[in-house]
Amino acid sequence: MPTKDFPLLSCAAFAYLDSSATAQKPQSVIDAVTNFYVHDNANPYRSLYPLAERATEAYEAARGSIAKFIGAKTPSCLAFTSGTTMSINVVAHAWAKKNLQKGDTILSTIMEHHANIVPWQNITGCDSGLDLQLINMYDNGILDLEDMEARFKIFNVKLVCVTHVSNVLGTLNPIKEIVKMAHRYKAAVLVDGAQAIGHMPVNVSRLGVDFYAFSGHKMLGPMGSGGLYIAPQRHAEMGIMFAGGDMISRVTKKKAWFKPVPYRLEAGTQSVADIIGLEAATEYLNNFPNGLKGVKTYINQLGKYAWKKLKKIPNIKLLGPGPGKDWASSVISFTFDHDGASNGERIKNQDLATELGKHGIYVRSGLFCAQPLIEERLGLKGAVRVSLHLYNTVSDIDRLIEQLLLITKK
Ligand SMILES: Cc1ncc(COP(=O)(O)O)c(C=O)c1O
Repeated sequence: MPTKDFPLLSCAAFAYLDSSATAQKPQSVIDAVTNFYVHDNANPYRSLYPLAERATEAYEAARGSIAKFIGAKTPSCLAFTSGTTMSINVVAHAWAKKNLQKGDTILSTIMEHHANIVPWQNITGCDSGLDLQLINMYDNGILDLEDMEARFKIFNVKLVCVTHVSNVLGTLNPIKEIVKMAHRYKAAVLVDGAQAIGHMPVNVSRLGVDFYAFSGHKMLGPMGSGGLYIAPQRHAEMGIMFAGGDMISRVTKKKAWFKPVPYRLEAGTQSVADIIGLEAATEYLNNFPNGLKGVKTYINQLGKYAWKKLKKIPNIKLLGPGPGKDWASSVISFTFDHDGASNGERIKNQDLATELGKHGIYVRSGLFCAQPLIEERLGLKGAVRVSLHLYNTVSDIDRLIEQLLLITKK
């Protein structure tokens, strides 16, 4: 069982069921970060002595491995960022602001994390002349692609921003289909891969996306690492987000010339050790029996098991499509029917999660940074979320169910 590879979990008294917030790290990732500081610490691309050259080589080797891991055709398609939030903001500022014009529309969806809504609110509206619209979903948590197509027909859509996997509903969106539709209408597609990558095989080239954003810390890598995939056909369209050292090819008193993608998007000193750690995370995932396919199968079995057990608990209402082709299985959210509490008291989702926490079962409750979805679309005050990764076991789920039964029966 891989649990033994994760120092925080190997002798833990708790069941960690909050990997959608952040995943735990295997020892190999922790070692890779430490080794960089112990043996190779220098600032890449600055100096020419052997230590600095080693740091540069390690940094570029990590780019190569991580680019391959996501299915990018060349390492130059991968810019390092601090994570999904920053990657999406890079697309907003370095691409959308430069290439979109008054009258253009950006389509996001109602099931997005704030990271894929707020940056778009930030650059649209008022005097920008840009319009932001959110595509609806059906009550079962599946995206309404007819609604999407209808908007393509009416509005001048230039960008579609959609999550690969919903961090609330576990919905697995049909990215290939969305890309096909968007490209037919000459719109670009940005995918928020925060909850997908590291949980299943992801190949950005096969998906045909224009941009793919991801966070290292959700795929067993260090916090502070992450990336943005930029398809080759978008390279020439990229402006800059941050300006400063190392992203320039020449600077005069009046003007600067920027390096090509990805370097123009990596201003200043990067989180190099964390990127090396992220490379180690990709190695760890690749080495799981049967690689990412194996990870997906494992999480899928566990997710189905959890869904089936949760479904049997009276008063628990599961959210999202559940087992089937539209479901990623690593994210399971539910609400507890307050009025069903036998002692007549309302058990709030937050109290339920706190109570579970007291018994060593770590789940998340609240709005999950998806307030438009939870409040406006689902009409809820919050929910409880169980999220899984490859180190979770059936016994974690059994512990959860046992405690839930005790709490909800009180
Ligand atoms: C779907 C989704 N998008 C974006 C983010 C933001 O990720 P980060 O905080 O790593 O930038 C998250 C984090 O939970 C997420 O679940």
